[in-house]
Amino acid sequence: MADETLSNLLQENRRFEPPAALAAAANVTAEACERATADREGFWAEAAERLDWGQRWDQVLDWSNPPFAKWFTGATINASVNCVDRHVEAGRGDKVALHWVGEPADDARDLTYAQLKDEVCRAANALTELGVRKGDRVAIYMPMIPETVVAMLACARLGAPHTVVFGGFSADALASRVVDCEAKVVITADGGYRRGNPSALKPAVDEACAKVASQGREVEKVLVVRRTGQDVEWDDSRDVWWHDAVGGASADHTPELHDSEHPLYVMYTSGTTGKPKGILHTTGGYLVGTSWTHWAVFDLKPETDVYWCTADVGWVTGHSYMVYGPLANGATQVMYEGTPDSPHKGRWWEIIEKYGVTIFYTAPTAIRTFMKQGDDIPAKFDLSSIRLLGSVGESINPEAYMWYREHIGASSAPIVDTWWQTETGQILISPLPGVTAGKPGSAMTPLPGIAADVVDDEARSVPNGSGGYLVLKEPWPAMLRTIWGDDQRFKDTYWSRWEGLYFAGDGAKKDDDGDIWLLGRVDDVMNVSGHRLSTTEIESALVSHPKVAEAAVVGAADETTGQAVCAFVILRDSAGDGGSDIVEELRKHVAHEIGAIAKPRQIMIVPELPKTRSGKIMRRLLKDVAENREVGDVTTLADSTVMDLIKQRESSAAAKEE
Ligand code: PRX
Repeated sequence: MADETLSNLLQENRRFEPPAALAAAANVTAEACERATADREGFWAEAAERLDWGQRWDQVLDWSNPPFAKWFTGATINASVNCVDRHVEAGRGDKVALHWVGEPADDARDLTYAQLKDEVCRAANALTELGVRKGDRVAIYMPMIPETVVAMLACARLGAPHTVVFGGFSADALASRVVDCEAKVVITADGGYRRGNPSALKPAVDEACAKVASQGREVEKVLVVRRTGQDVEWDDSRDVWWHDAVGGASADHTPELHDSEHPLYVMYTSGTTGKPKGILHTTGGYLVGTSWTHWAVFDLKPETDVYWCTADVGWVTGHSYMVYGPLANGATQVMYEGTPDSPHKGRWWEIIEKYGVTIFYTAPTAIRTFMKQGDDIPAKFDLSSIRLLGSVGESINPEAYMWYREHIGASSAPIVDTWWQTETGQILISPLPGVTAGKPGSAMTPLPGIAADVVDDEARSVPNGSGGYLVLKEPWPAMLRTIWGDDQRFKDTYWSRWEGLYFAGDGAKKDDDGDIWLLGRVDDVMNVSGHRLSTTEIESALVSHPKVAEAAVVGAADETTGQAVCAFVILRDSAGDGGSDIVEELRKHVAHEIGAIAKPRQIMIVPELPKTRSGKIMRRLLKDVAENREVGDVTTLADSTVMDLIKQRESSAAAKEE
């Protein structure tokens, strides 16, 4: 790895000790770390005792066939029972599970655990009636409404793995996921509210179903929640209203206990190739990993805390830290449908004030946006209920950390900077709020029970003060089990670089104290607003446009989104200069193929791309252009004049804009 990638560690001398009162009453103390180091499996077995099981396990971890781990072998468990029924049975049925807040003002609804249980049972009965059986896959393409959580838990109850597709993704993206995991039912809504307007979902489902059919497969049923009241096309043989099917179903449902390793869900994420990977999570270990970390990292006191994770349910954070972790812990939480700035820029802070949110978990990109908008916006609201703040998705820059701490956390709330991935399922590296003195910008140390390290090219642990690659040396309960339908790709992607080590794809550095600083991806994966996008996927989308001959995509540093998508495109000769709207046309095309999140910030039409003699595109040089830097070493280019041509194009494009 080039040294320049690793030597960017800032000198950061600030330390924030845990507040004394929090430390004194913390769920986890330094003693847990010692216990976990002495007996990792015993530690996770103890964490498993926090859940309700049917059959007990024979073995905590079966690692006899690496990299295919099995956790809590022989045990049986039902995730939905752990997330709802057991709280009701323990007499907490009247406790609020979800303070749901719709985007339109005054559109809000509270659901208690008892109500949630009834809804989940009704939905499980309705799905059974629609033909869903244990092992069948169900795709969920929904806005942030309570029915989405109900749908996920109903699938879990039946043992029908769900695949939630982010509502911002296109019909194509939905169709490819439905085809890959062979989902037979899609659950959706007519639409949801975003930025003050209804935003349709059902037309994309209709389009996706047609695409799935053209590939010889069939979506048998589409279950539709009426949320916005928009007009929808209706296929009587396929489409069913949620209020008819679920509304009319019985609230009695006897759950089956599933094997601990029964598939819980598949979540698609971008890799270095164009084809998204279906990350498979199973039941027992996942629930142990997410519920324990949620309780430990956020120091959750379920009786008094009001927790809010702002992630969309379409991403892994929504799965682990809005649905499974918090609900297994019996938390009371806020769920918000819309955008942070609708109908006004203080909407999030207004919600915190109204519900007395105590624990708040969001992404650095959101924090940077608020910083830009000004301190006066959160200052108008009473945020004194906040006692703990969390960050996820990318490294939090020290400036953003300090702003978050001061303006949202009243200069006293600890910040937990949580490192993890879709694949890891649970947080692996984070401060423990009652134990760790936080440093702005560092994710600090592996959690108890987790063996993470930073290694060099030869897999040797690097000394403090040095950089390298972040790896995991031992299995952990919520780890991915494989890539859906592709064990070989699972081995190749994560386990092939070094024998016996899971390679996360991130560069990292240990500082002089041994604390870990994440330095970003070392592969062709971008991180835009905390979401993973692959350069290849966007290049493929661009090349699928009839005017495009070749495309290269890089992630360039961006003040708000962390990285932004920048594309360099060569047009086909037949396309001439592409027409005056070519850039907008291509941006729209990418949004249609993948989703608005993948829209390039910038597209440059270029005559050539910089390639090595073996034909590999030198993205490093394009990144220099996209980040307005002096272009680096070009000696390995097949044609060293190419970069001059690109630079010339760039300056003439800039002149036009002016
Ligand atoms: O590069 C790391 C970055 O996000 C990647 C995982 O992305 P995804 O699977 O989409 O999951 C995002 C939410 C867990 C990682 O490989 N990342 C995530 N959290 C952090 C981070 N980088 C630095 N610091 C973090 N706290």
